[in-house]
Amino acid sequence: MTSSPIRQVTLAQPFTDQKPGTSGLRKSSRQFQTPHYLESFIEASLRVVPGIAGGTVVVGGDGRYGNRAAIDVIARMAAAHGVSRLITTTGGILSTPAASNLIRQHGAACGVILSASHNPGGPEGDFGVKINGANGGPTPESVTDAIHAATLTLEGYRIAEADAPLPLDVPGSHSIGTMTVTVIDGVDDYVALMQQLFDFERIAALLKGDFRVAFDAMHAVTGPYGSRLLEGLLGAPAGTVRNGIPLEDFGGGHPDPNLTYAHELAELLLQGNAYDFGAACDGDGDRNMILGRSCFVNPSDSLAVLTANATLVPGYAKGLAGVARSMPTSAATDVVAKALGISCYETPTGWKFFGNLLDAGRITLCGEESFGTGSDHIREKDGLWAVLFWLNILAVRGCSVAAVMAEHWGRFGRHYYSRHDYEAIASDAAHGLYDRVKVMLPELVGQPFAGRTIATADDFAYTDPVDGSITSGQGLRLLLDDGSRVVLRLSGTGTQGATLRVYLESYVPPSGDLNQDPQAALGSMISAIDELAEIKQRTGMDRPTVIT
Ligand code: G1P
Ligand code: ZN
Repeated sequence: MTSSPIRQVTLAQPFTDQKPGTSGLRKSSRQFQTPHYLESFIEASLRVVPGIAGGTVVVGGDGRYGNRAAIDVIARMAAAHGVSRLITTTGGILSTPAASNLIRQHGAACGVILSASHNPGGPEGDFGVKINGANGGPTPESVTDAIHAATLTLEGYRIAEADAPLPLDVPGSHSIGTMTVTVIDGVDDYVALMQQLFDFERIAALLKGDFRVAFDAMHAVTGPYGSRLLEGLLGAPAGTVRNGIPLEDFGGGHPDPNLTYAHELAELLLQGNAYDFGAACDGDGDRNMILGRSCFVNPSDSLAVLTANATLVPGYAKGLAGVARSMPTSAATDVVAKALGISCYETPTGWKFFGNLLDAGRITLCGEESFGTGSDHIREKDGLWAVLFWLNILAVRGCSVAAVMAEHWGRFGRHYYSRHDYEAIASDAAHGLYDRVKVMLPELVGQPFAGRTIATADDFAYTDPVDGSITSGQGLRLLLDDGSRVVLRLSGTGTQGATLRVYLESYVPPSGDLNQDPQAALGSMISAIDELAEIKQRTGMDRPTVIT
């Protein structure tokens, strides 16, 4: 691969559907196989992102169908754009958090992460490309907008010719023209970072006792990471990691760690009694679900527990600068932050909004209700990090997950919380429903709702406290007079039709009934929002696709 002439390819016409969403450009695998489709988006990105010529680029993905072929194309295009060093991984396997870490470690100009996160993979599934910036996090809207604009007027792209595909099976060094390609093991550096943050000896002692763990990698990217960490370094028994081999179609599954798609694991923990701790991660390894014996930890509570217990963990022993949560995430963390005397920020949905706060040192931990938790160690949410954080807390406190939750609610009160997703509904039905409620907002204030009164009704807008940028249209909020609330949002990550998300939350103080079933505790709000927004009627669905 020494001589690599550069080919200039002319597009008959530009693609008009390459607007990146909350998590990059996500489309069906079929769409990505359209000739020049991937190349168009990569060309636009390489033109827009600063520091490409002469810089370093990290590329890898979650192992789904199309991963290796895309790495090959991206490497040859990077060479044609004057990149001096491309870092990729064996098998092209690189979790999103590990990619964020590599970008930061190597001072890369950007990272190209190949994943459609928790969406199914395979020829009939989805594929995605996300560009992360030099801080290791998702690029800000100004950059994604510029990339989109560039795709709309693209006349062609440049790519280096190569005689053979990049050899990705083993670590090594190669070249394409003047660009060096370094193939490294994508697990090593991530594991080293985890060892700096957590007390491995203490966790190992826990796992070598009679504390049994089940981790479900869902046939996706965290298999090799989970095996190395849990079964390798921490000495958990073989078999602790389930579905640990990454497969191009994730074994036909839907690699989303929630009670619906990770139901086998959920049943093991919630119905059986052989395990003390269960966890799962999604396709690209940035999401996590935490379970204890007969105990599901909702992600909003998980962030609150990590916040309350952070100083038990070496990497956070000095305390937290502040915390942040996305708007639809429950206020459980706000209550803890108040008790700790630290700031708590409320941001729009999507990890990129945490980036500025992390870079400015205003926050240490952050999270979203959608099974995303993370910290200032990287600029992405991090599934296995959350799992290790929980194990470290349990190892120090020497109690069960259920006991941690009971103690937490007994001290801070409980935010009953649930998210109802109506997936793949007709786009016009979803927008019709949403726009109707949006128009109604002003007249809803003062109206009765589920035995309470609507105190505020608005469409959430956010002013970034670091750079002053304003992001509006982030979700319709009905705030009730007793502090409960309902939020409606349309998903920005789906690829089929539209997905309506309904977020429900109600607070019970420590003196109240802390042991209700969340669906029962929220029951009157669930029927009230259905009636107000005409959900069943307009979606034609008599129940949500996923209830969390
Ligand atoms: C979903 C989650 C959101 C998360 C995003 C990327 O986005 O709700 O919290 O940041 O995936 O993982 P949505 O489909 O709701 O736009
Ligand atoms: Zn993900």
